[in-house]
Amino acid sequence: MQQAIAVLDSGVGGLTVVKELMRQLPQEKVIYFGDTARSPYGPRSAGEVRTFTRQIVEYLIQFNPKMIVIACNTATAVAIEDIRERVSIPVIGVILPGARAAIKTTRSGVIGVIGTDGTIRSNAYEYALRLISPNIQVYSEACPLLAPFVEKGLFGADSANEVVEQSLRQLIGKPIDCLILGCTHYPFLVEAISRVMGPDVTLISSADETAREISTILYHRDMLTSSGQLPIHQFFCSGEPELFKRIAQNWLKEQISITPVVWQVP
Ligand code: SIN
Repeated sequence: MQQAIAVLDSGVGGLTVVKELMRQLPQEKVIYFGDTARSPYGPRSAGEVRTFTRQIVEYLIQFNPKMIVIACNTATAVAIEDIRERVSIPVIGVILPGARAAIKTTRSGVIGVIGTDGTIRSNAYEYALRLISPNIQVYSEACPLLAPFVEKGLFGADSANEVVEQSLRQLIGKPIDCLILGCTHYPFLVEAISRVMGPDVTLISSADETAREISTILYHRDMLTSSGQLPIHQFFCSGEPELFKRIAQNWLKEQISITPVVWQVP
């Protein structure tokens, strides 16, 4: 199947899924949409996030993708069912893969989850974790500063340690043995998060787990591309393209071109 995999996020966070996808499935073409003009989604209402997600999916569908990946935890938490009802191709979110990996990893049965206000408020991780393992204990913490920090391209700055420490302070000392990075922006800050949480806490990237799930689904449904050529990926963003491009090229370690998309920003 030569069609592309369409990936969407509020901004640059979904690039963490794309990077892992490119590593695992280098022949698959990716079409990426970062809604940087309306990022972050975390503080938005569930209704707004559903509307934005629907609008991006309508945009991406014109490219006839074989799969939609909602590479944004906030959007997965509130919009995935709505999108599944609207399209006839597989729609993959980032919450279940991360939850499954955490259940496989934990020894103590005590798991931490960090995410945006919207993701934590939705209780989507608690729900997914308890669906798999009802007795699991969960400590959830909203970290509203982190996704905007990444969107500004500051993740390599000295201030990253300070912002991460401030964001995670409620979790320090809790008896968790693994921590779900419940926002696709957080792998940009993995070194600082790991330093703050210490070596006894295993970090679970919902982004990496989602890429693994995509590979498995495409393989089992016989939907992998049969083209022997390396694909040319396409990137779209609704906000300022230069910052997006700089972050994307730096993260993906390849040159990309960006098509800006202008639409009415509420
Ligand atoms: C955000 O836009 O606030 C972060 C996106 C996410 O939840 O992954």
